[in-house]
Parts: sequence; C-alpha cells; structure tokens
Amino acid sequence: MEQRRILVGVTGGIAAYKAPELVRALRRAGHAVRCVMTPEATSFVTPLVLQTLTGAPVTTDVLDPSQEGEIDHIALADWAELLVVAPATANTLARLANGLADEPVSTVALATRAPLLVAPAMNVNMWQHPATQRNVATLKERGVRVVGPDVGELACGWEGEGRMSDPAEIAAVAELALGSRSLQSEVVLVTAGGTREPVDAVRYLGNRSSGKMGFAVAEEAARRGAEVVLVTAPTGLATPAGVRRVDVESATEMRDAVLVEFDKASIVIKSAAVADFRPVAPSARKLKKEDLPEGAGLTLELERNPDILAELCRRKDDRTIVGFAAESHDVVAAAQRKLERKGCDLMVANDISRAGTGFDVDHNTVVFIWPGGEIEELPTLPKAEVAAQLLDRVEKLRGGTK
Ligand SMILES: Cc1cc2nc3c(=O)[nH]c(=O)nc-3n(C[C@H](O)[C@H](O)[C@H](O)COP(=O)(O)O)c2cc1C
Repeated sequence: MEQRRILVGVTGGIAAYKAPELVRALRRAGHAVRCVMTPEATSFVTPLVLQTLTGAPVTTDVLDPSQEGEIDHIALADWAELLVVAPATANTLARLANGLADEPVSTVALATRAPLLVAPAMNVNMWQHPATQRNVATLKERGVRVVGPDVGELACGWEGEGRMSDPAEIAAVAELALGSRSLQSEVVLVTAGGTREPVDAVRYLGNRSSGKMGFAVAEEAARRGAEVVLVTAPTGLATPAGVRRVDVESATEMRDAVLVEFDKASIVIKSAAVADFRPVAPSARKLKKEDLPEGAGLTLELERNPDILAELCRRKDDRTIVGFAAESHDVVAAAQRKLERKGCDLMVANDISRAGTGFDVDHNTVVFIWPGGEIEELPTLPKAEVAAQLLDRVEKLRGGTK
C-alpha cells in the first residue's frame, strides 16, 4: 500500500491506552505516522510508547523549545495528509468545534488543511449531553468524519454508547478519509470565482460567486495526487496546498489564462461564474455624475463576453470537461440546455435561489446532469464533500476514456 503521512492526536481519555494499537495498525498499513498529545493524554499513555512505535518525536507541548526545534507545530500541520484524533475526549471535541488552540492537538487541528477524523470516547452521559452532541454536529457540518463511539461496557462502569471504536476500524476509516491518489496522472484545470468587468477606473460589474466551490475542487484534486492549476477571479481565499494559482480579473483575462493552461490539462472543471456581458467602452478615468447633465442617468452599453466553456468543448479531444450552471429558476431544464449547447461531459447545476446554499456559503445543493438526460440529485453538503463527489464521477469518466 502507498505510504501516506498520518498525524495521530491523542487526548486525555481512558481509551488513550488503545492509541498505540491504532498507531501500529497505521504503520502496518505502510504509513508514516507522527503523534501529538494533549498534556492530559500523557497521564494515560506515555509519549515514549508512541515515539517508539512511530520512530518520531512526539509533540506534547508547543511552547517547549526543544520540541518545537525538531519540527514545529505548523510544519507538523503542513506535513499531515490526515489528522486522526483518537481518542477524542468531550473536552477536545468542544475545542475542535469552537476553534480553540490552547494545547497541541487543537492547535494542529486548526493549523492543518488536512481532513480530520475523530474517534470520540467517553462516559455515555458525557456523550449524550446536548453540548457534546451539538459539538459533534458542528464538526460533521464542517465535513469532519466521526467514527464511533460504539455501544458497550465503559471503563467508568456504565454501559452504553461511548466506547472508542476498535483501532482496526479507525484505521480502515482513515484509509477512506485519506482518499486514493487516484488522480495522480492527471492535470486538472479548475476555474473559480466571479469575474469583474471594468466599468471605469474604479468600478466593475461583478457577481456574488465567492470561489469557494472551485477552491474546494482544486484542493480535493490536489489531495488525490493531480497536478492542479487554479485560474481564479478575485477572492479572499487562501491557495490550497499543492495548487498552482493564476489570478485574473475579467472574463477575457480568464479566457486567455485558461487557453494557456488548457493544452496540458486532461480534466477541466469550470466552476467560475464568468460574466456573460462586459461594458463596451470602459472608461480609463472614474466616471463622475458632475460630468453628466443635471439629473441625467447613465446608460452602459454591454457586449458579449467570449463563451469559454463552449470554446474549450470544441477543442476537447480526450479531455474530460465539467461545466457549472448556477440557475435561479427552472434549474434542471436550464442546465440540461446548457449541457447540450456546450457539449461538455457533465454539468453541475445549482439552485442559487435557495437560502444557505450556492453563492458565498460553505454548503451547496447540486444536481449532476449527464448527457443523455440522467440526473443525480445530491443532498445539501459542505462544498468539500460536493468536490469529492464530483471528482468521484470524473474518475469514473476517465476510467471509461483511458
Ligand atoms: C481516569 C479518567 C478517565 C477519563 N476518561 C475520559 C474519557 O474517556 N473521555 C473524556 O471525554 N474524558 C475523560 N476524562 C476527563 C478528561 O481527562 C478531562 O476532561 C481532560 O480535561 C481532557 O483533556 P484533553 O481533552 O485536553 O485531553 C477522564 C478523566 C480521568 C481522570
């Protein structure tokens, strides 16, 4: 099996004595493993045990200069391809849900871009407490995977839900969470964000796309081992690890950048919201109302922007091309027409009229529309999960073309 880099966070519950077993299972599967611990965890299992099993120093204190010297906590967070917190105490779940960073496990969890898997373990009443349930729900909404807890006899003497899942099961879920390096031989071109069409020296016509969907696709494709280039209109989002970013503003700039990258690409995912029209004659100076007759309005003449998706589809060869259709009404029919008109392999339609999904939020409710009329409706999901589902479909398509 291919070696991946897994960081195991151990927290202060009685099930910490099973953490060494989890580390051994992950090592046996061929992975590189490192550990971080909360100070409380060191009362349940010694750092020396975990250091011996991983062959690497264990971080128990981010303020200890000797530990930070070996590999600092940010480097550790960057190193990880997956963070597994096992066992995850009620206390640590609360920290993770609320973004605290006052000990090594939660600090690294906040600093890493790697996916997070937690294996809760605690007394049944702690588990069923509304505060813990709320924290777990928050984590799940954010796309965190939760394994267990199992039902059984608990160390505290109670029976019920609260036992940490078996280390072998946690290791199996970790494999799923890591995902495969299934896009290793692919070059993925992703577009993201909403283009800006200049009106004058300071103003532009824009749209409400945040770029979050495209960034999530780029991040997931990189995690699956693809070479990824992300052509993005302006957004405040950080570039995902391992992704090459090309910044553009207008639709014409986006077209030029996309055409440069297109030759090398084997998969193209066009999630950017590209303006259909642009002002014919943007002013090099700021337009001022004083320059117009008193009370007069201003009419902007617009012309069509190039249809990038249609142009790429005409040059498709054996590439896989996915388009996005953000629609406010008649969503499926409109997206089907767009798919047929452009000739791409798959269209992802989203209904931007629904509150809480679509533009500038972390969730999306999408429908996959296939040539030939097949439709797949997905539930509302975090954009990272939509990205994973989309790339699963793309991989199937690629499997068919190779
Ligand atoms: C013997 C003993 C066993 C404990 N077991 C658990 C447990 O299984 N789960 C849990 O959430 N807390 C457990 N606790 C309480 C935690 O140790 C406590 O909440 C601690 O602050 C957790 O810190 P951490 O999340 O930073 O590791 C236990 C405490 C003791 C003394």
